[in-house]
Amino acid sequence: MSDLARLLKESWTLVEEQQDRLASYFYAKLFLSNPQLRDLFPVQMDVQRARLLNAVVTAVQSVDDPERLNEYLRALGRDHRKFHVSSEHYDVVGGALMDSLRTFAGEYWTPEFDQAWRDAYGVIAEKMITGAETDRDQPPYWHAEVLQHERRGRDIAVFTVRPLQELLFRAGQYLSLECRYQPRLWRTYSMANAPRKDGTIDFHVRALGAGWVSSALVRRLKAGDMLRLAAPMGSMTLDRRSTRDIVCVAGGTGLAPIKALLEELTRYNRTRWVHVFFGSRDRDDLYDLECLNRLAARYPWLSVVPVCSEDPDYPGEQGNLNEVVARYGPWQNHDFFVCGGPSMVRTTLRTLAELQVPPARVRYDAFAES
Ligand SMILES: Cc1cc2nc3c(=O)[nH]c(=O)nc-3n(C[C@H](O)[C@H](O)[C@H](O)COP(=O)(O)OP(=O)(O)OC[C@H]3O[C@@H](n4cnc5c(N)ncnc54)[C@H](O)[C@@H]3O)c2cc1C
Ligand code: HEM
Repeated sequence: MSDLARLLKESWTLVEEQQDRLASYFYAKLFLSNPQLRDLFPVQMDVQRARLLNAVVTAVQSVDDPERLNEYLRALGRDHRKFHVSSEHYDVVGGALMDSLRTFAGEYWTPEFDQAWRDAYGVIAEKMITGAETDRDQPPYWHAEVLQHERRGRDIAVFTVRPLQELLFRAGQYLSLECRYQPRLWRTYSMANAPRKDGTIDFHVRALGAGWVSSALVRRLKAGDMLRLAAPMGSMTLDRRSTRDIVCVAGGTGLAPIKALLEELTRYNRTRWVHVFFGSRDRDDLYDLECLNRLAARYPWLSVVPVCSEDPDYPGEQGNLNEVVARYGPWQNHDFFVCGGPSMVRTTLRTLAELQVPPARVRYDAFAES
């Protein structure tokens, strides 16, 4: 560990236990000194549990190897354009952060700690500002109209939007979006189709019980509503040079990017076998199985295995996705795409490691904040 990283970690332990109070102080400081900044943040800040502060502290503490973080920070800076953040704001946030740390660490705070946080924050802010500046030819976000909205099963919706300006992306990517029912709350969703000539994009969303944005997207969104879409991100994309067969493992709405990849494959694939394992708790949640079955009937290289984990009468495969995938192996020579909730992704990655699938052949996205 470098001296800088050690100083950052050591000093954080001084305030760690008072995190919640430190967060309240930080935001109060920020908004009192710059009241206009309040409008950049969600109406109910408690919903977010201090996202920005947590994110800044995490980033500062990972500053050990800034070059490695370079791409991430530039992308984060570009992405901050959707919050209407400008380069002057970085000093204000940095100032509020330093003030909060000094106040809560009290007499234990040293000039070395101060310097370490200022240096680390400065490096990060500079990279984010550069990222935002190099993206000026793109809009900070795209306006898109909801064309169709369909409820599937208990708590899933499939909807289609059309961006008003061209939005380029690759099959398998995701973007964050904001809807008018939850202003200034941005959440990430995967595009469920490969790019189309008419520019339309499908999304598959599951409403989490107490989830703010997902519930609104499933239960309130309707045709004619406008959304804001931020720039696409993510690297769970197809490598056209690979000739290996493919296994896709999708849990619930983790099917969205997998479907996009399948759609791309239908445009050029003739030679690679593609196996899709689509899992959910019960048959009601296999919300897009009909469409997958239609694709499998049309493309001989595609096979689809639906799996239910909590539906004892289900006539198909039963069990957890990772167990069923393992049963169908061996898979050492395949490319893998895995997407779904964090625990499903975690168990599947563990199983693939046990099955000796080289990690470089596995691409995945977990539906959880990084
Ligand atoms: C790269 C990526 C791609 C994604 N793509 C998709 C996608 O295509 N489709 C999709 O549906 N989602 C997707 N997600 C998840 C999505 O971004 C949101 O996290 C999700 O919709 C919840 O947002 P929310 O505002 O409704 O919930 P929030 O209000 O943010 O609350 C979510 C948090 O509350 C807790 N929570 C609340 N209710 C429940 C519940 N019933 N069960 C479990 N935990 C709960 C959890 O701790 C969770 O972290 C993706 C996430 C990532 C990171
Ligand atoms: C070191 C500098 C910074 C880092 C590492 C950082 C990091 C992050 C991250 C990771 C998120 C969550 C992203 C998301 O939910 O999509 C976030 C959210 C946010 N950031 Fe930053 N940020 C920084 C500086 C700033 C500055 C200067 C501002 C301007 C005021 C700002 C405003 C916001 C806002 C408004 C949000 C959304 C907050 C919310 O939803 O509660 N950030 N930041």
